[in-house]
Amino acid sequence: ITVAVVMGGPSAEEQISLSTGHAMAEALRGKGYQVKEIRLVPHNFFEQVKESGADVVVIAVHGLYGEDGRLQSALEMIGIPYTGSGVLASSLSMNKLAAKRVFLGSGIPTPDYIFLHRRNRGKQDMIKAITEKFSLPVVVKPVSQGSSLGVTIEKDVSGLQKALDEAFRYDEEVLVEQYIAGQETSVCMIRRKDGTVKVWPVVLIHPHAEWYDFNAKYSVGGVEHLVPAPLPEEIIQKLKDISVNAYEVLGCSGVARTDCMIDKDGNCYVLEMNTVPGMTPTSLVPDAARADGTDFGELCEMILETAHL
Ligand code: DAL
Ligand code: MG
Repeated sequence: ITVAVVMGGPSAEEQISLSTGHAMAEALRGKGYQVKEIRLVPHNFFEQVKESGADVVVIAVHGLYGEDGRLQSALEMIGIPYTGSGVLASSLSMNKLAAKRVFLGSGIPTPDYIFLHRRNRGKQDMIKAITEKFSLPVVVKPVSQGSSLGVTIEKDVSGLQKALDEAFRYDEEVLVEQYIAGQETSVCMIRRKDGTVKVWPVVLIHPHAEWYDFNAKYSVGGVEHLVPAPLPEEIIQKLKDISVNAYEVLGCSGVARTDCMIDKDGNCYVLEMNTVPGMTPTSLVPDAARADGTDFGELCEMILETAHL
């Protein structure tokens, strides 16, 4: 069979996607597949896929188009199976507000938040709404972005204006969340052929910077992944439970990763679901799978086998 790995595209995470895509393409070639690499040009996508002769598409596009349901729906229209989540689960997961509403409606703990739309209020009203509801720090983030782009953890009221400007650079919709002081973890999972969800060992993230921002994510040595996470068994189980629950209520398929926080009292929160998680040399899913004895090539093949229509 011919596999097309689609990567790149116009999102702010283009370079990360190229890194994910090249790594997956190389690994699948190593497994004996005929692999074509497609750098996404949205208005040419149908032609690109047709010309590649692909029987199946591996989606390695992060963010816009690749992670929000659009490529998925295009591939449904031309009847080519693709990896990862379907249209609705992708759209819901990419939109942090929609995902939060689903989490809250399903009893999945997630930090308290307010939603801000550029059109609704002036910045001073937004700052007033934030300070009335929360004690700082808060996390200010674009609704639909990845890799922590546009995200600020703000401790001072005087910094809120700049934090809002930064988030609104990436999106007209912004979430402000209560900052959870504690430990950051990720839970990586994939649906097995029998429909059950396989969860890899939980990863505890130790950024060397103040927090796990874009630089920490993609600089070699920017972060340490402790996997299996050295945490009490009861916490590990809680993290796995809320993560699989999040995966199920969003209707995910294929590989996915939640990002979670643990506060000082051991309460666990799901921050978000990533349906096209990074597969770069510094990414989390490859480390989690490796801790379970699955090397990168096996992992990519496992992801390919989850392709569906
Ligand atoms: N958005 C990046 C690629 C991730 O979640 O890994
Ligand atoms: Mg994300």
